Amino acid sequence: MTDPAPARLVVLISGSGSNLQALINATSDSAYGARVVAVGADRDGIAGLDHAAAADIPTFVDSVKDYETREAWDRALTAHVEQYQPDLVISAGFLKLVGAHFLAAFGDRYINTHNALLPAFPGIHGPRDALAYGVKIAGATLFFVDAGVDTGPIIAQVSVPVLDDDTEETLTERIKVAERAQLVEHVGRLVREGWTIENRKVRIP
Ligand code: GRF
Repeated sequence: MTDPAPARLVVLISGSGSNLQALINATSDSAYGARVVAVGADRDGIAGLDHAAAADIPTFVDSVKDYETREAWDRALTAHVEQYQPDLVISAGFLKLVGAHFLAAFGDRYINTHNALLPAFPGIHGPRDALAYGVKIAGATLFFVDAGVDTGPIIAQVSVPVLDDDTEETLTERIKVAERAQLVEHVGRLVREGWTIENRKVRIP
């Protein structure tokens, strides 16, 4: 029997794209079971787009400021992603909340990686907020996106220690190392094994 076609991943980014690069690296092994078919961003001039181009992956940019309304942006982003017929859409440092159109199209297969242990410290300053609170353990959460801010069903979490002399930068970097490994492992498992969600409980068989 021939192997099934690799699952199609569309990755959305806003920055350095180290999570994207980790996924691209993983997909070079055909046993991983997926390939990145497109990378979308909400801004130009970011390193993540260069990573995609270096790997010959098509890219697109939809900036909110280029659209008259947030809804028009959401429709455009949805249409762009739809073109690539993704099996899974991955927000990897994508700093925009998608809207109703996007969730109607991809809400059953749109995941996000967040650099805090949800439900603590949602939003865009996870490591900074964790440090300010004085927690001793920080980490990252991979979850299915719903209409809330970092509130969807959790796929996986990984913890790292917070050290006494940590700065926002050192903690952020420690989290990112663990976060990338978690993302790569669980995206692979999701596409190869499938999943169920019942009462917020995500199970990968
Ligand atoms: C990740 O830590 C993610 O949790 C946060 O932004 C970071 C993205 O990093 N929202 P990169 O662009 O993948 O390097």
